[in-house]
Amino acid sequence: MENPPHPPSSPHISLPKSQRIGLFTGGGTAPGWNAVIHGATREIRRNGSEAVGVMEGWAGMLEQKRLIDLQSLSAREINVLLQKGGSVLGSSRTKIDPKNTQQIENMKRTISEYQLDGAIAVGGDDTLGQAAQINDLRVVSARDFFNGVPKTIDNDLKGTDRTFGFETAVQQATEQLVHLTADAEAQRRVAALEIMGRDAGWITLYAGYVGGADITLIPEFPIPEVALMERIREIYEKRRQETGAGFVLMAVAEGYEGVEDATQRDAFGHAKKGGAAKAMLKKIKAATQYETMEQVSGYDVRSRPPLAQDAIFAAELGATAGHLSSNGVYGRMVTLRDGHITHIPLSEAKGGRIVDITHYDPELMRKRDLPPAIARALLESQRQLQATV
Ligand code: F6P
Repeated sequence: MENPPHPPSSPHISLPKSQRIGLFTGGGTAPGWNAVIHGATREIRRNGSEAVGVMEGWAGMLEQKRLIDLQSLSAREINVLLQKGGSVLGSSRTKIDPKNTQQIENMKRTISEYQLDGAIAVGGDDTLGQAAQINDLRVVSARDFFNGVPKTIDNDLKGTDRTFGFETAVQQATEQLVHLTADAEAQRRVAALEIMGRDAGWITLYAGYVGGADITLIPEFPIPEVALMERIREIYEKRRQETGAGFVLMAVAEGYEGVEDATQRDAFGHAKKGGAAKAMLKKIKAATQYETMEQVSGYDVRSRPPLAQDAIFAAELGATAGHLSSNGVYGRMVTLRDGHITHIPLSEAKGGRIVDITHYDPELMRKRDLPPAIARALLESQRQLQATV
């Protein structure tokens, strides 16, 4: 992460040196949000520009909720941000239609009253997608106005190899799995921990692996029920014979088998997921007669302070965005590529980076032991061998 940001690849209009830059956070919480604000604010100030915080994401950009003076934060106040969960700027899931003239007029008024030269949006593909659209349509400014920092604990954004908050979420879910094991073993039960991950199973995959789950179920790989029940019986009985204590530990992504509450949708139409573990255990009990227990890991995975590595990563992303913005470069998303922080066009901020067969073994129902590149080569040679017989 030590390389400086690459020079902007696209020409940009030269702007006054000192920029007044609005920072805002949108979408679901991710540990490290405040660390991004730490990094961006310090870098913006170091460059002689000015950082201000716009409250509650896009809602604040439309309605001028409140402006936070990041400029006069003391060194201590700014350092505390590195280890603080949540976001001091608050968040919202406000949907913007760049063709809605009223919304755009409101945003222009906010920009003018806050005297912003540009803004840094810290959010997922919904938040950043809107920023990219507004940039591209030139509806609030004749040039790009927003930069983006990708955020989601789900780690499912294309364009970046990893998102901040993911490692912290994995750690929290891992600890919950380890704790649940003790109870499941003592009670001789099939236990399932349901873990966040609406569309992608990354957190469940990694936490399941490290936390010792016997079976990991993720939305990308629905497992045939017969095979699943067989595997559960096999693990339970083998353990009972070997140790006297039959039990099975499962990590289940909340989006597994698409169990959702369609009555609860956010502004972007995403339904609340939940109930996957409960639904699965009901089937397991009916099929195997084993006692079951379920736990939902819930918001804990995204509420705790970031792990040190996540805080450093987030702060470096923030500093890079602050560096670009205070040099008048907009329309970029800072990103991790091949181990280095760099930046790409903001329009490349998209969701949909899901777990594939090089990471997950559907037969063993868990993360592969081999790293993806080696697994890919192995799968390919197996495929070629099968094609020849
Ligand atoms: O940030 C993504 C995520 O954590 C998903 O895994 C989850 O389904 C969603 O947020 C829930 O967020 P909220 O309850 O705030 O809508």
